[in-house]
Amino acid sequence: MPTTVIVGTQWGDEGKGKITDLLSDTADVVVRYQGGNNAGHTIVVEGERFALTLIPSGVLSPRVIPVIGNGCVIDPGVLLEEMNELRSRGVDPSRLRISANAHLIMPYHRKLDAVMERYLGRQQIGTTKRGIGPAYQDKFSRQGIRIQDLFDPKIFAKKLEAILKDKNRLLVKVYNQLEMDPGPMIDRYLGYAEELRPYVEDTSLLISRAIADGQNVILEGAQGTLLDIDHGTYPFVTSSNPTASGAGTGAGIGPKAIDNVLGVTKAYISRVGSGPFPTELDDEIGERMVEIGGEFGTVTGRRRRCGWLDLVALRYAVRVNSLTEIALTKIDVLSHFETLRVAVAYDSLGERYEDFPRQQRILYNCRPVYEDLPGWGEDISEIREFSDLPKEARQYVEYVEEAAAVPVTIVSVGPGRSATLRRE
Ligand code: IMP
Repeated sequence: MPTTVIVGTQWGDEGKGKITDLLSDTADVVVRYQGGNNAGHTIVVEGERFALTLIPSGVLSPRVIPVIGNGCVIDPGVLLEEMNELRSRGVDPSRLRISANAHLIMPYHRKLDAVMERYLGRQQIGTTKRGIGPAYQDKFSRQGIRIQDLFDPKIFAKKLEAILKDKNRLLVKVYNQLEMDPGPMIDRYLGYAEELRPYVEDTSLLISRAIADGQNVILEGAQGTLLDIDHGTYPFVTSSNPTASGAGTGAGIGPKAIDNVLGVTKAYISRVGSGPFPTELDDEIGERMVEIGGEFGTVTGRRRRCGWLDLVALRYAVRVNSLTEIALTKIDVLSHFETLRVAVAYDSLGERYEDFPRQQRILYNCRPVYEDLPGWGEDISEIREFSDLPKEARQYVEYVEEAAAVPVTIVSVGPGRSATLRRE
């Protein structure tokens, strides 16, 4: 059975949640390998809408073991709330496994995320303010606190008190905030420890054993390629590696254990937060994409910026992720537009670019070079066979496939599980 990475090819919100949920039917283990509760996965099952932020989408399939890998950052209060929410809606989250090596998001991370953004003013990243960046910052400066630290109360309190001294200096002296008190924080987190204890284990071992036993493992990325800390539109990125290579590190397996890399691509593009976006539509068409596509953030409710599909960025995602297949989502939204544009190259500072530029100055000045494709002008959301799509819709999919040089194996025409067309 294969091990598959599912990765977003754009700036997130491509519909990874739906695709992961769909493939979870035949999966044994579904692993989140990076990010935290900055991600929003909206999944619709039998008309019921689930919005998950941290727990892998696979939790909705009863036989799947959902895993939060070592590459994630965990806000334990949010995680426990999400588990309770699932219980209250009849979904049992007791199979969840959490890596002992995942890092904790602490209250000072959330506070710093908010004040650092405020201080950046017009240069702000537009983060989700969930403390993600500051938590990863501490991980890499070796000041992080991990899940396993919660189970040694003395060490936990010692680490937290030492770190908080440092953070308080920063909060008070640099950001003009009130000092934070370690006492209540220690009590609260040690309370979380008792609730989380049954779920925590060495998940790298669990995943490796599942692979060795021939089980079907899905590694689910959050955010998307262009938000990757190394390969995204830095500094307007998240603080981890959503790209496929991050899956190995964030789950604790080697690259040879991965068989497939499925890229999830929305039939148009959206972005939340700041940063360059060559095909952004600041007009009535963009506005209609937001409305028809329901493009409002799952986590923050922010309106997403929208624009035409960008094949330069898609080819880049194919390259940096070694994509083996593509799932093209929300193609039904395009039914409402007469002519469909796709960016095939960029013009910037007097030069043409067919490969995604790595230099910020070039990227900021990019003007898309479009090709126009005919729309199909009819509702396709009830169609269940690829061959039943209008000719123009099939041509659109085939055009994307050819430009990416990777097969489009799944086409999604609506939010529900059944609104999916499979291609061989
Ligand atoms: P952070 O991950 O909260 O630090 O935010 C950094 C950037 O990533 C901001 O532009 C966010 O809007 C964006 N971002 C983070 N998570 C998601 C997501 O799940 N979907 C889309 N954008 C995201």
